[in-house]
Amino acid sequence: MATVSVFGGAGFLGRCLVRRLVSEGSTVRIAVRNADRARSALQAAGLDRVSVFAADVRDQATVAAALAGADAVVDAVSAYVETKGVTFEAVHELGAKALAREAVAAGVACFVLVSGIGADPESGSPYIRARGRGEHAVQQVFPDATIVRPSAMFGPGDALFGMLAHLARLLPVLPLIGGGHTRLQPVYVEDVAQAIARVLADPGTAGRTYELVGPAVYTLRDLFTIALRIIDKRRLLVPVPFAVAELQARLFELLPSALLTTSQVDLLKLDTVASGTLPGLRELDILPQAIEAIVPTYLGRSHVGA
Ligand SMILES: NC(=O)c1ccc[n+]([C@@H]2O[C@H](COP(=O)([O-])OP(=O)(O)OC[C@H]3O[C@@H](n4cnc5c(N)ncnc54)[C@H](OP(=O)(O)O)[C@@H]3O)[C@@H](O)[C@H]2O)c1
Repeated sequence: MATVSVFGGAGFLGRCLVRRLVSEGSTVRIAVRNADRARSALQAAGLDRVSVFAADVRDQATVAAALAGADAVVDAVSAYVETKGVTFEAVHELGAKALAREAVAAGVACFVLVSGIGADPESGSPYIRARGRGEHAVQQVFPDATIVRPSAMFGPGDALFGMLAHLARLLPVLPLIGGGHTRLQPVYVEDVAQAIARVLADPGTAGRTYELVGPAVYTLRDLFTIALRIIDKRRLLVPVPFAVAELQARLFELLPSALLTTSQVDLLKLDTVASGTLPGLRELDILPQAIEAIVPTYLGRSHVGA
């Protein structure tokens, strides 16, 4: 793909994707709200050639400017916490729709929406519902859009193992939300970035929805146990009912950086594993990496001596 606009290109997934697209020879521009912060991050990563646009998916004029002349667009924008003016509906549904509409108007050939596993327009969870409605809205406006639904992603700087290790350092006992029985199938962030790069390169993926998951299913308790083993800590794992976790998350969300969010608690109420009915990494010729091979390369290191 010649020129790719990555909305949310300074985020956890966005940074991996941008690095990959640049290394494959694409001209990449990113669109985020905080352009200065993104420029510093890109410079630190040696990605000075990437241009940065200040854009907000809730603001049509800025979206149009960041799209003009692009051959492809990736929506990797996230909102995990609702704050004033930033709602899941505004970002994941209306924002995604506005981006798709502007992409059509600009004659962009390829559109990739990064959604999430379990997206469901009928869900009682505002986060999961907005993701599902966002998918539908994009498909209506841009029928050839490709949707990728990653499971929880791991990799250096992730929220998943980063949060588990952080909690283990802070607390003598660890909360097993919902008893720790929820099943997850975490996926390596680099595998997701590679999948998006393949989608951009292959017109045969247009209009399809991919579920991007890792090679194995774990319970939340398994993931806590793995994280504790890697950082070499012992902690008591205490079951916490969903209602209590939800209350805690609401309190955390009042802080500038929430350790736990209500959207995360909502996601933990469901098993977020592959449905088996949609294509995934295998159909994109990608062999998914396992937690056991990747997580010790960063989690152990950053917590040695902690
Ligand atoms: N992380 C996971 O485990 C996971 C799992 C499944 C699905 N996903 C999905 O994958 C995508 C990427 O997630 P991530 O974890 O990489 O997110 P992230 O690290 O939070 O990064 C989000 C990016 O979006 C930008 N952004 C936020 N609001 C924006 C807005 N209104 N307009 C334009 N840009 C905006 C942010 O920059 P500014 O703040 O400067 O705007 C940032 O660059 C999201 O759709 C997320 O829901 C993530």
